[in-house]
This record gives sequence, C-alpha cells and structure tokens, in this order.
Amino acid sequence: MAHHSAPSHTAHRPLACVILAAGKGTRMKSDLPKVLHRVAGRPMVGHVLAAVKALDPDHVVVVVGPGMDSVAAAVAPYPTAVQHEQRGTADAVRAAFGLLEGFTGDVVVLYGDTPLVTPDTLRALVQARRQAADPAVVVLGMRPDDPGAYGRLILNARGGLEKIVEYLDASAEERAVTLCNAGLMAFDGARMVELIGRIGNENAKSEYYLTDVVQIARRAGMACSVVEAAPAEVVGVNSRAELAEVERLMQRRLRKAAMDNGATLIDPDSTFFSVDTRLGRDVVVGPGVFFAGGVTVGDRVEIKPYCHLEGVRIDSGAVIGPYARLRPGAEIGPDVHIGNFVEVKNAVIEAGAKANHLTYIGDARVGARANIGAGTITCNYDGFGKHHTDIGAGAFIGSNSALVAPVTIGDGAIVGAGSVVTMAVEADALVVARGAQTAYAGWARRFRERKQNEKAKKA
Ligand code: UD1
Ligand code: MG
Repeated sequence: MAHHSAPSHTAHRPLACVILAAGKGTRMKSDLPKVLHRVAGRPMVGHVLAAVKALDPDHVVVVVGPGMDSVAAAVAPYPTAVQHEQRGTADAVRAAFGLLEGFTGDVVVLYGDTPLVTPDTLRALVQARRQAADPAVVVLGMRPDDPGAYGRLILNARGGLEKIVEYLDASAEERAVTLCNAGLMAFDGARMVELIGRIGNENAKSEYYLTDVVQIARRAGMACSVVEAAPAEVVGVNSRAELAEVERLMQRRLRKAAMDNGATLIDPDSTFFSVDTRLGRDVVVGPGVFFAGGVTVGDRVEIKPYCHLEGVRIDSGAVIGPYARLRPGAEIGPDVHIGNFVEVKNAVIEAGAKANHLTYIGDARVGARANIGAGTITCNYDGFGKHHTDIGAGAFIGSNSALVAPVTIGDGAIVGAGSVVTMAVEADALVVARGAQTAYAGWARRFRERKQNEKAKKA
C-alpha cells in the first residue's frame, strides 16, 4: 500500500464548538442557572452537548457566568470559560478565545438554551461553511410563524447574507422580513477572532452583538451565507412557559422515535420519556406512563396504564401495572408480573415471579416463580439502616405478611397469610407467625340477644 502525505479535499478539517451559557436567565425566576433546567430529564446544556458530540469536534468550550460552578460541573470534562459581565453575545464568544488560541479550523457557536438542535442541522451549517465560496460566517436562519423580536436576516440580490439587524434596532421595513436569526453560526476560525474583535456596542441595548459580525465581514469583502432550519428545532427557552413548550416538542420527538423503533404507545400524548429511555421491540405502553431517567425495557414487555418508572431494567415478556411504581435499582426479570399498587426499589425479581397487588418490595431478591401475596411488605428500614430480604425460588408469601429484614425465606417455603416474619425460614417449610385463632361458640348470638334486650327495656 502506498503511503503519501499530500493533503486531499477529504483531509480532516478541525472543528471547535462554543456554547454560550452565561446569560442569567432572569425570566426563569429561578435559583438554578437557566441551562441546567431539564428537558426530558436532561439539563438543556446536556442536550446541546449531545448534539455537538455527534459531530466529534476537536474542541468544545462552554461559556458560563461568574459563580456558575454547577454548570461547569454539569458539562465536565468539557472546559468552561468565564464571561465576567454579560455584555452581549459577541463578548461571550470573546471569552472563549483564550481556550481556542491559534485555532484555524471551523468554529460553531451555539446557545445553551436552545436544546432541540439536531446533529444534522449542525452538520449542514459546517458543510455550508466549507463550501467553495469560503464564507467567513454562516448563520442558521428560520421562518417562525411569529417572527416576534428575533433578529432579522437581510439578504442581498444574489441571495447572500448582507447583515443581521436586531429587532430593537430594525426599521419597519426590516421588521417585515420573515427570515430570522436562530442564533447558531459557523465561522472560519482563521478570520473569526479579527472580525469579532471589531464589534462595538453602539446599539439600542449597548451590548456587543455577535450578529454585527456579518456586516463587518461583508464590508471586508467576505462572503456570508444562511442555512435554514425548522423553527421547532431552534426554539429558545427564556421562561418557564417556553421550557414547557420545548419539553412538549422534545416529547413529541421521543414518542415518534419509540414508535419508529417498534413500540406501541396506546396514547402517545400521555406517555412521557427521558432521553435515555430504551424500549425493545413490541413493547406496549398504556396511557399515563412516565419514564424517568435510566429505564431499559426488553422485548414484548407490556406496561399497563399509569406507571412511574425510574432507574430500572425490565426483561422481556414482563407485565407491569397498571399503577405500578418501579424505583431505582429494580431489576425485573423475564416474564415477571408486577401488578397494581406495587412498589419495587433496589430489588432483583427473578424470572416468572409475581407480585400482583398492593406490595412494597425494597432491598430484596425475589427468586424465580415466587409468588408475593397482596399486601406483603418487606420491612427494610429500622429507622437507621436498610436491610436485605431474600426470598427463595418458588416461595409463596401469604397475603398481608410483613418480612422484617434482614431475613431469608428458603426456596419453596410457604409463609402463612398475615405473618410477621422476623427469623429465617427454611426451604420448603410452612411458617405461620401470627396470633393463634381462638373461637367462642355462640358468643356472637348471645351478645346480640343481650343488646336487643337492653334496647327493649329502655323503650
Ligand atoms: C439572540 C440574537 C438574535 C436571535 C436570537 C435567537 C444577538 C445579539 N441576538 O438574541 O438575533 O434572533 O438570539 O434566539 O446575538 N449570552 C451570554 N452572554 C451574554 C449574552 C448572552 O452567554 O453576554 C448567551 C445567553 O445565555 C444565551 C445566548 O447567549 O444562551 C443568547 O442570548 P440572548 O440574550 O438570549 O439573545 P437574544 O436577545 O435572544
Ligand atoms: Mg434568547
């Protein structure tokens, strides 16, 4: 095989991504930095990072405000740059320059509060930047139903981008333009530092507008262009109402993906997913099911209506609910039945076992084919620590039993209904741990007769 070092047009061109997240998010009225508010269980900035990661960039820098250590921790191991004062989007990008010194590849600038952006759109932006015309800047545009206060993209006669005007600084004629600035941009890194360095703050807000870079590049004779995205992909979050709207759009995307991958959602609109929910084939999900983080579901599992699941693995063929709550550390084996008002936490339920009604199983193992009667409780907490309950294969736990952990029930053992079990039960034993039954013949009849006589005397 011949080795040669001549560069080709397919040679790797380095890519850097800068995510702006220094804004205070005042309108969220929150103690939490805006970009840490969650969408489908993941902080907004995590969604942006996931999209960015799909492009395999050489550098990622997240720009944060002073004291936003929680954001820095959330984006680690990616580095953060601190923008000390919020003086505008151009100033925020400048804050990242130190970490990108000498970088001459392509630079994509994104917003941390725009979590619906997809890798495909980012790729389109980068590809447009690499086109033969060699634009200095490519801007992501959109045509929302309501252009509102977005910046407007002003094109020239040849369809190139001439400038961006912020809404507050726009004339009536410019405000009538429907093509808006979505906020994301791709730059030629070799020209970016110089161009952004020239941005001033003579405008309605006295801020350093990143958007001014287009006019500066044009005046220097450089090309600029636009790539259009679907408005739903670039919705930004500034308020709780917009957070809810973005959640709605994300849920719609996750529901569609679940169905495309072979799950039946009886009522998609009432099924809520986390970004990391994994469903197998031929899973059927009833109305009102909520998948919190960390749920993996095998093939042919049925999840009946109104279940809440978090941090759980469910193996193939299991039937869950209705009204079940599966909490972190639950491992539901194949063909297991977990019925109504059953809560399972940190417990392994082995193949074919059943807990069909009104039960709490925490810090436990339930062996294969065991049957847990209605109302059974593993008493795992003594006020200080948690203790383990081990139930053997094929065991039968009678209804309304309390298993006081730590305790072991042997394989095939039967626990009589209503027992309070505090000591180990041998395999195949019957244990009855409740008050012995005492009967008094005729007592009830005599009691009624006495009461009726007393009543008659009074009358
Ligand atoms: C910006 C664009 C506007 C576009 C809109 C799309 C500018 C000047 N305007 O306006 O054309 O239509 O986004 O949503 O760029 N940020 C910082 N430091 C700052 C200021 C902002 O990190 O000093 C971050 C914010 O956290 C946010 C992003 O930059 O993630 C955008 O800032 P924002 O104030 O929301 O800009 P808009 O006024 O919405
Ligand atoms: Mg904004």
